Amino acid sequence: MLDEKNFTKYLNRHEIEAAVQSIANRINSDYAGKEVLLVGVLKGAVVFIADLIRHLKVPTEVEFVRLSSYGKAKTSSGTVTILKDIQADIRNKHVLIIEEIIDSGRTLKFLYERLKSSGPASVEIVTLLDKASKRVVDVPVKYIGRNIDDQFLVGYGLDLEEHCRNLPDIYYLKYPN
Ligand code: IMP
Ligand code: MG
Repeated sequence: MLDEKNFTKYLNRHEIEAAVQSIANRINSDYAGKEVLLVGVLKGAVVFIADLIRHLKVPTEVEFVRLSSYGKAKTSSGTVTILKDIQADIRNKHVLIIEEIIDSGRTLKFLYERLKSSGPASVEIVTLLDKASKRVVDVPVKYIGRNIDDQFLVGYGLDLEEHCRNLPDIYYLKYPN
């Protein structure tokens, strides 16, 4: 599975870093004078959120949520369950949901609606990568690092059956099946 022949580099670490920096610049300017609460979606977003927070100049809190919709499948099953919820009270806070990639949008839609109903000052979605052509449900994504084609990616937090999250660059699988 980790055979290099099946992996093609898609974004190198410098391109990823540029995308992260550009999202951080926008957040720093849009939220100047405010505080933000980042809600990272485990496990895929850990690498992205770790890099992003170090570029933020506004006061920042961090929470994590773990959702499951995929199991071991490579395509979304459509059913979302909460495996780990956030601990913080988000009332009157400016919440930023941090995702590494959006595909069908089902996972995000579920989380977005749930957080919105808990009385925050605002909720916006941040994603490093957006497969917009795969969107099944409408979800408002404000900050996008890169728009990407429909292909299965690994590395920089993205996994293939829990492998490859540690790779510093992002690859696509030539033969995902
Ligand atoms: P959605 O609910 O279909 O938008 O699923 C989004 C989640 O599926 C992401 O947060 C990832 O965890 C996972 N996912 C979607 N596309 C990929 C991919 O290309 N590689 C690895 N994980 C992916
Ligand atoms: Mg994710």
